[in-house]
Amino acid sequence: MQDLTLTVTGHRLFGNYGHLTLMTENRLRFAPGQFAMLRPVESLDPLWRRAMAIYRVRTTAQATSVEFIYQVLGRGTQALRRLRPGDAVQALLPLGCGFDTAPVAVGGREALLVAGGIGAAALLALAEQLKREQVPTRLFLGGRSQADLIGLNDFTALGISVHIATDDGSQGVKGLVTVPFERFLQDRAEETRAGQFVVYACGPPPMLARVAALTAQACILTYVSVEERMACGFGVCVGCVVAVKTHDGRCDYRRSCVEGPVFRADELDWR
Ligand SMILES: Cc1cc2nc3c(=O)[nH]c(=O)nc-3n(C[C@H](O)[C@H](O)[C@H](O)COP(=O)(O)OP(=O)(O)OC[C@H]3O[C@@H](n4cnc5c(N)ncnc54)[C@H](O)[C@@H]3O)c2cc1C
Ligand code: FES
Repeated sequence: MQDLTLTVTGHRLFGNYGHLTLMTENRLRFAPGQFAMLRPVESLDPLWRRAMAIYRVRTTAQATSVEFIYQVLGRGTQALRRLRPGDAVQALLPLGCGFDTAPVAVGGREALLVAGGIGAAALLALAEQLKREQVPTRLFLGGRSQADLIGLNDFTALGISVHIATDDGSQGVKGLVTVPFERFLQDRAEETRAGQFVVYACGPPPMLARVAALTAQACILTYVSVEERMACGFGVCVGCVVAVKTHDGRCDYRRSCVEGPVFRADELDWR
């Protein structure tokens, strides 16, 4: 984990979202699924940094650029929205545990990525790594409407199969992203039974719960990235806990900023 001041080199606003590119001379090592805590240096309101998934990292001999995609919700993300090229951003990164790609990298298995809304921002770096590892990858991407299909062009550019669903039917299947995902599992029941798939998901809690229920039924190894509200981001405030199942069937808690944000779906207590 490093506490760095990075410079804004790019900032594209689209609808209620922003695509922010920050530059540092430091070299950064990160795993897909890890995140950063961000705050503009010039803004003391709010004081606490906000958690953002690392969307993409590009490294050259001279510098590292780190990209984020955020949805404007409240004061923290409104402060991000005001950033201009040349502004400074305080960033604590990389944080948390990322996605484990080892289980999908063996035996010709296929990775199924399921993304809902801004959750897609946590999955692009994973899709890039899976491509480097030559793992067949398929994305189920959902949003309220066409304008909410985060990262669609970047995922498509990787050459992976993309199944789209929108709540209003403006692109792809009309309905929740779990609808084409469930249909796919039914159509490919034989491969599902043979353990051919590993699932990686990020999105709103009801979407994650549905993905976890479907994959539990089909005995598919599944990783979910949870986006609990976070204050510190490095394990001190205990404000980000999630409920997990213990071996003896009781419930316990884990800090999602350090033990997560990626968990095995069968470890979480979904009640
Ligand atoms: C590990 C992690 C990765 C994340 N990655 C991204 C990302 O890549 N892009 C992105 O846009 N957001 C991401 N988030 C969510 C982001 O941190 C929150 O949206 C942000 O903190 C909101 O701050 P705010 O000051 O704008 O809103 P606030 O004023 O704090 O809240 C505004 C509204 O948003 C709700 N809200 C705040 N935080 C969350 C949350 N974590 N989940 C659901 N609702 C929330 C509040 O309940 C309130 O209704 C991530 C969160 C985590 C924990
Ligand atoms: S955000 Fe403080 S312990 Fe996780």
